Amino acid sequence: MIVLGIESSCDETSAAVVRDDHLLSNIIASQEVHREFGGVVPELASRAHARHIVPIVKQALRQANVTINEIDGIAVTYGPGLVGSLLVGLNFAKALAFTHSIPFVGVNHIEGHIWANFIDVSEPQPPFIALIISGGHTQLVIVEAWGTYRTIGKTKDDAAGEAFDKVAKMMNLGYPGGPVIDRMAKNANSQFVRFPRAMMTDGNYDFSFSGLKTAVLYYLREHGPENHQADVVASFQAALSDVLIEKTIQAAKAHRLSSIVLAGGVACNSYIRNNFQVRATDEKLNVYLPKPILCTDNAAMIARAGLLKLNQGEVSGYDLAPKPSLRL
Ligand code: KG4
Ligand code: ZN
Repeated sequence: MIVLGIESSCDETSAAVVRDDHLLSNIIASQEVHREFGGVVPELASRAHARHIVPIVKQALRQANVTINEIDGIAVTYGPGLVGSLLVGLNFAKALAFTHSIPFVGVNHIEGHIWANFIDVSEPQPPFIALIISGGHTQLVIVEAWGTYRTIGKTKDDAAGEAFDKVAKMMNLGYPGGPVIDRMAKNANSQFVRFPRAMMTDGNYDFSFSGLKTAVLYYLREHGPENHQADVVASFQAALSDVLIEKTIQAAKAHRLSSIVLAGGVACNSYIRNNFQVRATDEKLNVYLPKPILCTDNAAMIARAGLLKLNQGEVSGYDLAPKPSLRL
């Protein structure tokens, strides 16, 4: 089955084509317009999606070397995300499905992130545990079977990516903050400041990062924002990483699951990737990491998630509306 995926939930317009679990193309247009504002401006995001959506879909088809008539199904993100952004992709997908009589299916963006792990890869099989760490979400999910999810923990305040972005903003490092901090921290001292590791021993799988963010803010106020910048961001990254890794490992062990999959933009982070591997190996657990390009928002993951749904006979109606607060 050949599936066209469309993603426009936040600030990337993306279209991708998969043939079964093989990736044929994955085109992503990032919106540079938000950089000068230090975060996504919803109104500008919608307009950029409107400009990009048709050329991006055309390019994805061209690169996959397929025509629209060869597409068996269309998968599109319908939430969570910014309503104006979601509307652009969803309505375009519906129009394309309608005019070419192709079945289409709405995909939950968070579920899509998990499926980034199963593009050109077939391991692990459920049950396994998924840690979704993105700009908008931080969530621990047990994938009990394909398409069956049980959330066992999530953030009480900031998402992991949001914490990276806010710390970078405090230090004037630019947006998005994650990639900048990742790079700056590479040769720095991650033990320079001992920032708090919140809720590590609470016996649940929820997260909280606003205290860590505030601790960094107080540190900067006391010591000045220019001093030891790389060591400070490395120390912040280490604190956040420790909490993510230890909580996920505790959850995996408590639920007797030996496989952990990571997903979402923060799963690009090299420190988190390396340390997850090391700690999991200590605990005799397996960690699976999508390629970095599939961790951040993309349509390949939406196409892959949609493929499963379409294969299971799920099709959406033309009355499907965007759901900005959709949960998993
Ligand atoms: O999954 P994603 O592309 O979009 C959402 O669904 O939110 O995640 C974007 C987030 C941003 O907060 C960005 O700073 C973070 O992922 N991010 C990273 C890295 N690359 C992107 N965080 C840490 N290290 C990175 N290398
Ligand atoms: Zn995302």
